[in-house]
Amino acid sequence: MTINWFPGHMHKSRKQIAELMPRVDVVVEVLDARLPDASSNPLLTELRRGRPCLKILNKCDLADPRVTDDWIKAFEARSRQIRALAVSAVRPRDLMRLSRLCRSLAPSRGVPGKPLRILVVGIPNVGKSTLINSLAGRRIAKVGDKPAITKAPQQVDLRNGLLLVDTPGVLAPNLADQQAALRLAASGAIGDNAMDYQLVAQFLVEFLRQHYPSLLQERFGLGELPEESEVLLEAIGRQRGCLAAGGVVDRQRAAETLLRDLQSGRLGRITLEFPEAVAKVSANVAKSGAKQP
Ligand code: G4P
Repeated sequence: MTINWFPGHMHKSRKQIAELMPRVDVVVEVLDARLPDASSNPLLTELRRGRPCLKILNKCDLADPRVTDDWIKAFEARSRQIRALAVSAVRPRDLMRLSRLCRSLAPSRGVPGKPLRILVVGIPNVGKSTLINSLAGRRIAKVGDKPAITKAPQQVDLRNGLLLVDTPGVLAPNLADQQAALRLAASGAIGDNAMDYQLVAQFLVEFLRQHYPSLLQERFGLGELPEESEVLLEAIGRQRGCLAAGGVVDRQRAAETLLRDLQSGRLGRITLEFPEAVAKVSANVAKSGAKQP
């Protein structure tokens, strides 16, 4: 089973981002801090046409703080044109540093007569609209996965020399790498109809067993964790009372419970990918001569 999801409005959105770019000084790319690589779209590099980029690792309240720090260092080591910042867009006070970093990326802008123009972009569900609303101090962009730029975008004066395009540019999620697609699905970024909960939960339970075993043990009151992911998912279902007739575990409900617990943060602060592992996969792809998506 492959995960394949491409909301129809995204071709249009990509074109609109390209059209807006000549009037943009800094691109603010919103990523999900729990999966900073899988929630990016490599096409953005081309769309930016050399403009500097501030990578926002949003939802940092849900991510493992130690790994978030590693991601920030990894992004900033890539290029002087890139800065990175961890925020939770639902906490407006986290956004104070955003303006400062944008200024550092475009030092000649943000002065009288030369406002610094910002475009927020990212794949669905990473928190673009929430971020725009927090920055503007009022509800502007619709929150949720809605068609991208549905009206002619307006600029909001943030009153500190910064102008913000009021509607986010929506990029398609990159589903060419199915391991990354599984991480996206686990985070809640893929439309419900496009995903197989049991498959995603199976992947997640294996990842958590390897990297966050104590969080699984605590949340589900489990002792030693079974080696096999299927058995572990069943144990979780049993502990949470996801039972069908005859006392058998309802695997679908067990899968949904696990994913809900991850997405809400009830399972703990978890990051689904680590910079060193992603770098290794990219190096192998490059070595094998395979085309990057
Ligand atoms: P988008 O424009 O990129 O598609 O994302 P949007 O702002 O709609 O945010 C998607 C979901 O992520 C929303 O939840 C939003 O509240 C949540 N969110 C955004 N930023 C953060 C953050 O920093 N931390 C956490 N924990 N959640 C965040 P929702 O359930 O879809 O909508 P709502 O019920 O909250 O309105």
